[in-house]
Amino acid sequence: MDRLTKSAAELLVCPDDRGDLTVVENHLTCGRCHRSFKVWAPNLVEVLPLHKTVRVGQSRLERRNIGRYEKIFDEKFTWEIAEPPWGLMESLPLRAHGRVLKQLNLIKRVLPDKLGIFCDVSAGSGRYDFELLDRCTTAVYSDLRVADVVHLYRETTHRAASNVLIVRCDYWSSPYRGEIFDTVLCNDTLIYGLEHERRLLETIYGSLKNGGTALVDFHNRMHSGIWHAPYEIGYTIREIKRLLNSVGIDRYELFSYYQEEWISDGASYFKNLLTSMVPPTRYFVKIVKSFVSDENPALP
Ligand SMILES: C[S@@+](CC[C@H](N)C(=O)[O-])C[C@H]1O[C@@H](n2cnc3c(N)ncnc32)[C@H](O)[C@@H]1O
Ligand SMILES: [Zn+2]
Repeated sequence: MDRLTKSAAELLVCPDDRGDLTVVENHLTCGRCHRSFKVWAPNLVEVLPLHKTVRVGQSRLERRNIGRYEKIFDEKFTWEIAEPPWGLMESLPLRAHGRVLKQLNLIKRVLPDKLGIFCDVSAGSGRYDFELLDRCTTAVYSDLRVADVVHLYRETTHRAASNVLIVRCDYWSSPYRGEIFDTVLCNDTLIYGLEHERRLLETIYGSLKNGGTALVDFHNRMHSGIWHAPYEIGYTIREIKRLLNSVGIDRYELFSYYQEEWISDGASYFKNLLTSMVPPTRYFVKIVKSFVSDENPALP
């Protein structure tokens, strides 16, 4: 049995009833409901729930995002992809490259040097993930969109990366086992509405080991729709803190991020002056999961 298919059975559970999965030929089979999930390649599995999550949405923007989710959920897997994956550098205008690189530098700087078992819950084209690969023991790249997972598979093959598992799944019905990842990345995805953000944060936090680290970001409400087209939902610092609190996340570091390349990352008088006038593009949150279990309380 391929090592990565075996890892899939260890890291994932059935998205419908959270039953254990075992590898049976080119499928992962649930020990509870006996459903079979397709292993398309030794390092590419599809673990979708039977049904998509039905939601109504509070605003026009949220309803539009729900429509998009339903569309990508219904896509049938095919190796023949017609569209580029989400955020692929080659398909972005040149003027956008600088900000992707700026963000990549931030992600590399903030995440620990050793990422252990790493998961990107919404990898898109994997534009940040492949750059982190040499820090991971195993890397799980997940997405719901077929074009994205097929691209991730091709890129992994092209790079001859032997530690990447690609999972087509829906984080509304998470297939991740609890407390399994050392590091989780979720970039540019907590942007689809409060109910969505809460659910995804719960999934991320639940899948993180005790002592693990997650890096997530939020768009700034004061920036979205003013400097940029309002295609996503942004939040104020207060709203972000309330949201984190509501899902039981209490140890985190929150910091401002300016995508403008002319605003340097380092501190300076000029930067302080500028940033007192310009709202940050996003807020990044580094979450560290750390709790003491009841059976093993910390000594006073
Ligand atoms: C705005 S893109 C960000 C992609 C990547 N993190 C980046 O920064 O380049 C959001 C990604 O979330 C994925 N996505 C949306 N809904 C999802 C769901 N329910 N389950 C898994 N992935 C989903 C989309 O396919 C898309 O690749
Ligand atoms: Zn099952």
